[in-house]
Amino acid sequence: MSNPATPPALGVLDERPPLTFPPGFLWGAATAAYQIEGAAAEGGRTPSIWDTFSHTPGRVVAGHTGDVACDHYHRLDADIALMAELGLKSYRFSVSWSRVQPGGSGPANAEGLDFYQRLVDRLLAHGIEPWLTLYHWDLPQPLEDAGGWPARDTAGRFADYTRLVADALGDRVRYWTTLNEPWCSAFLGYGSGVHAPGRSNGADAVRAGHHLMLGHGLAVQALRAARPSAEVGVTVNLYPVTPASDSPADADAARRIDGLANRFFLDPLLRGSYPADLLADLSTVTDFGHLRDGDLAVISSPLDLVGVNYYSRHVVAAPVDGVAPEKYWRSPSCWPGSEDVRFVTRGVPVTDMDWEIDAPGLVETLRRVHEEYTDLPLYVTENGSAFVDAVVDGRVDDTERLAYFDAHLRAAHEAISAGVPLRGYFAWSLMDNFEWAWGYTKRFGMIYVDYDSQARIPKSSARWYAEVIRRNGLAAQ
Ligand code: FCB
Repeated sequence: MSNPATPPALGVLDERPPLTFPPGFLWGAATAAYQIEGAAAEGGRTPSIWDTFSHTPGRVVAGHTGDVACDHYHRLDADIALMAELGLKSYRFSVSWSRVQPGGSGPANAEGLDFYQRLVDRLLAHGIEPWLTLYHWDLPQPLEDAGGWPARDTAGRFADYTRLVADALGDRVRYWTTLNEPWCSAFLGYGSGVHAPGRSNGADAVRAGHHLMLGHGLAVQALRAARPSAEVGVTVNLYPVTPASDSPADADAARRIDGLANRFFLDPLLRGSYPADLLADLSTVTDFGHLRDGDLAVISSPLDLVGVNYYSRHVVAAPVDGVAPEKYWRSPSCWPGSEDVRFVTRGVPVTDMDWEIDAPGLVETLRRVHEEYTDLPLYVTENGSAFVDAVVDGRVDDTERLAYFDAHLRAAHEAISAGVPLRGYFAWSLMDNFEWAWGYTKRFGMIYVDYDSQARIPKSSARWYAEVIRRNGLAAQ
């Protein structure tokens, strides 16, 4: 692991050469259903765990919910027109399970599917490649009531739902992501409980993680059967995990957190096994009674691509007797069995989420996936930053967000130069939206959303990104 070198300060854009990306590089932007659609009770949609969670007092900042969100469900045409203005080559969106299969079982809801059919048709009409994510955290509530992801049956339900979506959209959608960030679903949803469904039990988090991956494997098989030409992948959120010092104890803390954050998913998905050290670490949490013969073969079903979401780095230190774990942006209870590891802040620039800005970490992450795990094409399926935005004279000049994108695109290019088969990049996010437990208080969009009027204002970063897409790269500075 490299040392946690201080990343260059953002905002200081010194002389930098122009950079050109490989021909056909897929420039995109991403969103997720619950974060933008609204229309929570329309068109036959039933509640998901995020509806229940956001309507539970105290769970989401200021009691915000996704009931209306960006009202994208009713503003599809205008939003796609904005995407076309930006020149997006691809748009990554997610399908709301409870919109297309209300309650999470039974037949498809034609009205729900119709929304996604219109979305896909209109994207294609504008020459924008649809990139469909099947699961971005919004489990239908009845499936949670029946046990949620800690219950094995949920994996099979996910495969059934996948079949419905593949039958309806598989003729027009080429790129498919099964799960978005299973770490968050498992460890924030069932470990720390800061995400829906808000349960807090380490063993359940570990079971959830396994069943999410099992659901992924079954969904891959369902997609292959329904649409042999589909390009199928999964999106994982990865972090370089760096020890705070050279001490063996800090190195061990980094090994443990790397196991839970990264290898818990990468190893089963891409190698068909759990790392032995991770199993040993987790033996105090669970007896792994949920693992069945054959699961890992399903989980490691061959893929066509891997999606990487990258936001920041973890710097960690060993527990110190009598010293409380340092306060950081993750609750200790999302690290089952390693709750005592300290997450260290380095004092480098942070975003409005308090996430440290670390573009070199993107190079490290992409190289690791390629060099240690797979030759498959890689895509950055999310990368971006929240900053406080101000509308001045009808404009939003988001220089910090722009600098964040610039630094990370330079990092992406560096990874390509180092031999990583990186084929595309999706900015998070197309527009400001419901940022989960933070509600509407954190803005990640390239397009500003005025939640009172639902007006959209492309920020400076959006105009800049349009130019990046047009040039297929970055201008000299
Ligand atoms: C990722 C999520 C995405 C958004 C960004 C900021 O973890 O996939 O929905 O919340 O973080």
